[in-house]
Amino acid sequence: MKSLNDSYQLYNGVSIPCIGFGTWQTPDGDMAVSAVKYAIESGYSHIDTAAAYGNEESVGKAVRISGIPRKDLFITSKLFNPDHGYEATLKAFDLTMRKLDMDYLDLYLIHWPNPIQFRDRWKEANAGTWKAFEELYKAGKIRAIGISNFRTHHIEALLETAQIAPMVNQIRLCPGETQEKVTKYCREHNILLEAYSPLGTGRVFEVPEMKQLSEKYGKSIAQICLRWSLQMGYLPLPKSVNPDRIRENVDVFDFELSAKDVTLIAGLKECCGPTSNPDTVNF
Ligand code: A2P
Repeated sequence: MKSLNDSYQLYNGVSIPCIGFGTWQTPDGDMAVSAVKYAIESGYSHIDTAAAYGNEESVGKAVRISGIPRKDLFITSKLFNPDHGYEATLKAFDLTMRKLDMDYLDLYLIHWPNPIQFRDRWKEANAGTWKAFEELYKAGKIRAIGISNFRTHHIEALLETAQIAPMVNQIRLCPGETQEKVTKYCREHNILLEAYSPLGTGRVFEVPEMKQLSEKYGKSIAQICLRWSLQMGYLPLPKSVNPDRIRENVDVFDFELSAKDVTLIAGLKECCGPTSNPDTVNF
């Protein structure tokens, strides 16, 4: 990737800008509107939200006031846990579109594979959800469909009944967390890897090895992280509500990490803490 205008290509031919603006934990209202608006002004064209983040309305508002044509932006949202199953998914999608006030979505993801309400029947619930996703995709209401927090066994179960394979898996990928098994599986199946919490939700700033690399390259720790994410072939989704940081997080195209340093960062095991197990989360 050579610039923020570069894209990955999904297996269905859709282009997806190589860095997305994360909005998890961005409070709804003025804070979310101004952060997203500022991100768009800074050159981000890809915004990642979710029903569970509670800020879809603000994201939609920021997109409208940005003045950038809808077709020049890439907008992702995600299906919340209580809404799994065919009928509930269609209803939830409708609500998401009303909140965003948009007539199509670029990417829609199943947020978690195994919500607590469906723990005894998650496969059936995902199969029903996916049928709804496929219909919305075929009807042109979503340009690409995918999953989030899925591990290999969840994807294999989904593929038993799917007609269309997922195009994206959005998972936690950050220094010290490379989820080897599922990332290998996704690469083999042409499923693009999106990296949420690419800065370890802020924990990476305390890691001594990252401080040393920051000095070595003359770039901030955030920039080292995001450059690493791109060199790993991931699509990072950094979150910030701070204008300087929003800009800093896309200024990552004027340097390259050595292969040795890429490996070093990957190997900083759990330096940003552990990743939740999707089969045991309490939501
Ligand atoms: P803030 O929103 O106040 O800038 P992640 O993307 O891994 O979820 O990390 C987000 C966290 O990292 C937030 O706490 C965010 O705080 C902080 N953050 C984002 N970008 C930077 C940066 N460039 N420098 C320092 N902290 C950052």
